[in-house]
Amino acid sequence: MTIKILAFAGSARTDSFNKKLVKIAADGARAAGAEVTYVDFKDLPMPLYDEDLEAAEGLPKTVIQFKALLKEHQGFLIASPEYNSSISPLLKNAIDWASRPAPDEAPLACFRDKVAVLMAASPGGLGGLRGLIHVRSILQNIGVLVLPDQKAISNAYQAFDQTGNLKDEKQRTDIYNLGSKLAVIATKLTN
Ligand code: FNR
Repeated sequence: MTIKILAFAGSARTDSFNKKLVKIAADGARAAGAEVTYVDFKDLPMPLYDEDLEAAEGLPKTVIQFKALLKEHQGFLIASPEYNSSISPLLKNAIDWASRPAPDEAPLACFRDKVAVLMAASPGGLGGLRGLIHVRSILQNIGVLVLPDQKAISNAYQAFDQTGNLKDEKQRTDIYNLGSKLAVIATKLTN
């Protein structure tokens, strides 16, 4: 069975470093035999989670679309920006919405028994490493197996070239290999 991996960044910004980063990992996952779908949150705008809104209107259409994508894929490649030492509100909001069950849906059906790999890029010196601690904790608590391998790219304004690739060969290989590793492990766990 070909493993299916969903790749996304916790930023909607057009020139997002994290979008560039996760696309490199996606290439690594494809090279290892995975079928990778990239989704951009700019194309899936979700309102800020509000329990009154959910009670009145149910899940928004974009949330239903995102949930369907999560359920269709066995693995997730996630690049998360760090906001004030933590997860970006965009990513947390998407996770919160996706954690809400539709009627007759098993709890946390989008997350349980999925496998994920995390990465981050930031203009700062730590590359978003502190935010990944929180992303990892959130995902593990909702049933995702988050692989120990992760990578944070610091000084992001200098790190990427015009085409969106990482200039440094070792960094590029490390991120590419993160994607390959997810594909290999998810395949072993699923088949
Ligand atoms: C940031 N940024 C930031 N960077 C960092 O390394 N540690 C931090 O705690 C924060 N905090 C933070 C808060 C807020 C509200 C913003 C808007 C930004 C900078 C952040 O890393 C930078 O904007 C990245 O470019 C965001 O990621 P994308 O959009 O390039 O993927």
